[in-house]
Amino acid sequence: MTTAEAKPKKKKPSVPLSRLLAYMADSRGLFAAGLGAMLLVSGAQLAGPLILRRIVDEAIPAGDVPRMLRLALSYLGLVLVMGGLTYWQTIAIAKLGLSVVTKIKRELFSRMLSLPVAWFDGHQVGELMARVESDSEKLRQFFSNVGIYLLGSSIFLAGMIAVMFAMEPTAAFYLVLPMPAVLALVIFLFDKLRAWYEKARKLYAETVASVTEFVQGIEVIRAFDRARYAIGRVGKASREKRDLEMKAGIVEYGSMSVLGFAIGPLMTALIISRLAPGIVEGSLTIGTLLVFISYAQRLFDPLMGIAENIRGLQQARVAMDRIFGIMDLEPEPAGSGRKPSFERSIEFRDVTFAYKEGEPVLENVSFSIEKGKTLALVGPSGSGKTTTVSLLCRFYRPTAGGILVDGTPLEDFDLASWRRTIGLVLQDVYLFPGSVLENVRIYDDRIGEPDVWQALKTVHADAFVDRLHGGVLSELSERGGNISTGEKQLVSFARAVAFSPELVVMDEATASVDVATERRIQESMAELLEGKTAVIVAHRLSSILRADQILFFKDGRVVARGRHEDLLATLPEYAELVRLQFPDLEAAPDGANRTGGARA
Ligand SMILES: Nc1ncnc2c1ncn2[C@@H]1O[C@H](COP(=O)(O)OP(=O)(O)OP(=O)(O)O)[C@@H](O)[C@H]1O
Ligand SMILES: [Mg+2]
Repeated sequence: MTTAEAKPKKKKPSVPLSRLLAYMADSRGLFAAGLGAMLLVSGAQLAGPLILRRIVDEAIPAGDVPRMLRLALSYLGLVLVMGGLTYWQTIAIAKLGLSVVTKIKRELFSRMLSLPVAWFDGHQVGELMARVESDSEKLRQFFSNVGIYLLGSSIFLAGMIAVMFAMEPTAAFYLVLPMPAVLALVIFLFDKLRAWYEKARKLYAETVASVTEFVQGIEVIRAFDRARYAIGRVGKASREKRDLEMKAGIVEYGSMSVLGFAIGPLMTALIISRLAPGIVEGSLTIGTLLVFISYAQRLFDPLMGIAENIRGLQQARVAMDRIFGIMDLEPEPAGSGRKPSFERSIEFRDVTFAYKEGEPVLENVSFSIEKGKTLALVGPSGSGKTTTVSLLCRFYRPTAGGILVDGTPLEDFDLASWRRTIGLVLQDVYLFPGSVLENVRIYDDRIGEPDVWQALKTVHADAFVDRLHGGVLSELSERGGNISTGEKQLVSFARAVAFSPELVVMDEATASVDVATERRIQESMAELLEGKTAVIVAHRLSSILRADQILFFKDGRVVARGRHEDLLATLPEYAELVRLQFPDLEAAPDGANRTGGARA
C-alpha cells in the first residue's frame, strides 16, 4: 500500500515538551545566561522599592544625608545594572530561539526530502510552506520569549508575594486574594482569542497557497483572463483574515488596556485603605506602604506575562505537534543496502498498483526487459504508462506483485543506488532557477564543467547553449521560462547523459516541437540510448520504431506486446492509435522506416 509509507509511526496525542527541550542541548549556555539574567533582573526589581523604603524609613528620619545619598546611588546603580542585564538577557534568548529553530527547520527540510513521493501527492506546496513557516515562528517565540518569560514572571510574582507576606501578612493576603480571579479572566479571554487567531492562521496559509499557485500559473491566468478571479479569491481570504485579526486585536488590546489601567489603581486604593490605619497608629511605616504601593502597581505585569505566555505555550504545542507530525512520518525505506546489480534483465511480475486504495490504475502488468534492449510503452492517455515508469524508479511501491532485477526484488536493493543506475527523463521537464551547468549536473560537483559540456554536445544541445550569452553558465529562469520547450527537453536529455546511467527511463513529452528541434531531439535520443537499456514511454514515432518490444497499455493493463509491424498487423486498436498519434507515419515509406525516423 502506498499510503502506509507516509503514516506516522505512532499516533500520539501530543508531543512531550522534553522532545523540544532536546533541541536546546547545545544551547544550554545561552539558556542559562538568559535565565540567570532574568533572575537577577527580577531580584533587582524586587530590591528597588526596598531601597526606597530604607531611605524613607531610616535615612530621612535620622537626618543622615550621606546615607541617603549612598542609598540613592545604590538605587541608581541597581537601575543601570538592571538595564544592562535586560539587554543581555534579550540578546541571549533571541540567539537561543534562532539557533533552536534553525536546527528544527533544517531537520524538517531533510525529513521532507526523505519522504516517499506519494506523500507529496496529497499536499499543497504553498500551504505546506506557510504552515512550516508560521509553526517554526511559534517555536522560535517559545524559545526566545515564552519559556523564559513564563519562568521569569512566575519567579518575579512569587518574589513579590513572599516579600509582602514577610512584611505585612494581612495586607499581602488582601492583595493576593483577587489574583486568581484576574488570572482566570485573562486566560479565559486569551482562550476566546486563540480560536480567532487559529482561524486567521489557516486563512493565511490558504492565501499563501493561492498566491503561489496563481503566480506559478501566470500564463494560464493571463491567457484565460482570470486575473480578476485570482485577485478576488486571494482578496477574499485576506480580507477575512484582516477582519478576524482586527476583531481579535480590538478585543485583546481593549480588554488588556482596561485591565491594565484599572488593576493598578484599584490595588493601590485597596492597599492604602488597608495600611493607612496602621500608619496612623504607628505600627507601620510609610516605607512599607511605599513598597506595597509599588508592588501593587506592578503585580499586573507578571500576571499578564503568565497568561499571555500560557497562550504562547499552547500555540507552541500545536505548532510542535504539527512540526513533529511531519518529522515522525516514516521516511522512504532505504532498502536493504545491497548494491544493485543489473546484468541480465528487469522483470515486472503481476504488478498491480493503486494511488488510492481500491482504485487500481495498473492491474497484473507483467513484462521483462533484457539488458541492452529498448522497451516502448504506448497507449491512450491515462492508461498507466507514467505510473509504470514511476514504479520502476520506485517512487511508489506496487500494491501487489513485484519488480525484479536479475531475479532480486527491487526492495532488496539500496534505493538510492538503484536510482543512480537510472537516467530519468520526465514527461514534464523541471528546471531549477540557476545556470545550465547546475541544471545538467543538478548541483553534483563530481560532474565537472567539461563533462557537462560533453553531455550537452552528445545530445546536440551545444548549439543552443552556445547561443545563450553565458554558455553553460547562463542563468535559466524559474522552470526554464527563458528557453523553449524543445530546449528544455534537450537539457533534460543532457542530465541523463551526464549521470551516465545503465538504464535510461524516459517519459516522452507529448508536446510537439518544430521539425528542426524534433530532428535534434531524435538525434539526441539516438546518442543517449546508444548501447543502453531503455524504457521509453513513446510519443514519438522514431521511439516506437527503435523499440525491441512495444507494450500496448489500455486501462492499466498490457493488452498486447510485440514489435511495431506485428502489432500493426494484429491489433486494430494499435493501428488506430498509431494513425492518430503519429499521423506522420503514413508519410514514411512502409510505415516502418527503422533508421531514419519519421520526418526523414
Ligand atoms: N499522483 C496520482 N494520484 C492519483 N491518481 C493518479 C496520480 N497520477 C496518475 N493518476 C491516475 O492514474 C491513471 C494512470 O495515469 P498515468 O499518469 O500513468 O497515465 P499515462 O498513461 O502516463 O497518461 P499520459 O499519456 O496522458 O501521460 C490515470 O487515471 C490518472 O488519473
Ligand atoms: Mg504520462
